[in-house]
Amino acid sequence: MTNLAIAANGLRKSYDDKVVLDGVDLAVPEGTIFSLLGPNGAGKTTAVKILSTLVSADPGTGDIHIGGHDLAADPQAVRAAIGVTGQFSAVDGLITGEENMLLMADLHHLSRSEGRRTAAELLERFDLVEAAGKPASSYSGGMKRRLDIAMTLVGNPRIIFLDEPTTGLDPRSRHTMWQIIRELVREGVTVFLTTQYLEEADQLADRIAVLNDGRIAAEGTADQLKRLVPGGHVRLRFADPAAYRNAALALRGATRDDKALALQIPSDGSQRDLRAILDRLDTAAVEADELTVHTPDLDDVFFALTGGADIPNQPKENAR
Ligand SMILES: Nc1ncnc2c1ncn2[C@@H]1O[C@H](COP(=O)(O)OP(=O)(O)OP(=O)(O)O)[C@@H](O)[C@H]1O
Ligand SMILES: [Mg+2]
Repeated sequence: MTNLAIAANGLRKSYDDKVVLDGVDLAVPEGTIFSLLGPNGAGKTTAVKILSTLVSADPGTGDIHIGGHDLAADPQAVRAAIGVTGQFSAVDGLITGEENMLLMADLHHLSRSEGRRTAAELLERFDLVEAAGKPASSYSGGMKRRLDIAMTLVGNPRIIFLDEPTTGLDPRSRHTMWQIIRELVREGVTVFLTTQYLEEADQLADRIAVLNDGRIAAEGTADQLKRLVPGGHVRLRFADPAAYRNAALALRGATRDDKALALQIPSDGSQRDLRAILDRLDTAAVEADELTVHTPDLDDVFFALTGGADIPNQPKENAR
């Protein structure tokens, strides 16, 4: 049996009369990346704050264990096992990057020499050596974010919470951050990550949970979640109205877009499926001018599970 780094049962939290978390179960095995997705205000940061002892859960919440420690009974032990990079930076802009690091080393009661060694190592690892002596207020957003995570790692935590670690980063900085996160996991660290970027969850997470209306609307691997929603289809476009009409007759069940002269056929995108569609067109002696295959992605899942919005690229006619 694998050990769970994070285990929570029936997590509840309300602010005034607003229920934010309405019985959320979480189970994250050691050495894996778990990603919590959800629209703005879904309660991701609230969950991170509860699991990292910064905010208390409501009565009625079941047991919470972090790194094997009971959060209610021994919050000190939980704090010693974790690192948290909040959604909003913990970097003090008035002092240098190095001073920020040394401050964290102090907080973790490292000796002076150990603190200096750890700070130097992490500044190197996060490519901040050159900037280390400059006030953090002069750093770019990406540099600040790297410093934030470097600070989180000072205490050598086995479990880290990253609340939207790459929001606002350019694509290159985001990829660098992904590399860093993957390296941590290779070393056995467990990562609990919230993100607005579905691609990020797709890239990094072993398991993904979508939070909506205070509950986990769906949970699984990226592939499992993608299978939950329809959305895979083939789209055929025609230049000639007559060819379009013939194709529509040959492909009964296709969704018609008369204006665009396009047909949309539900499909899993497999070679077999595509061949069957093309065979039917061949039999009717029509040829499409354009064929595109759309496979569902996490965006489709997200839209389908949160807020009841239409699944993108699914025409309204499908609802009939
Ligand atoms: N201290 C607080 N007092 C009152 N309400 C709060 C407090 N903290 C959070 N909330 C409310 O709880 C809900 C969830 O907020 P939370 O910050 O957890 O969402 P989130 O999923 O992290 O959103 P985002 O994607 O915008 O970061 C929101 O409606 C928010 O207004
Ligand atoms: Mg948040």
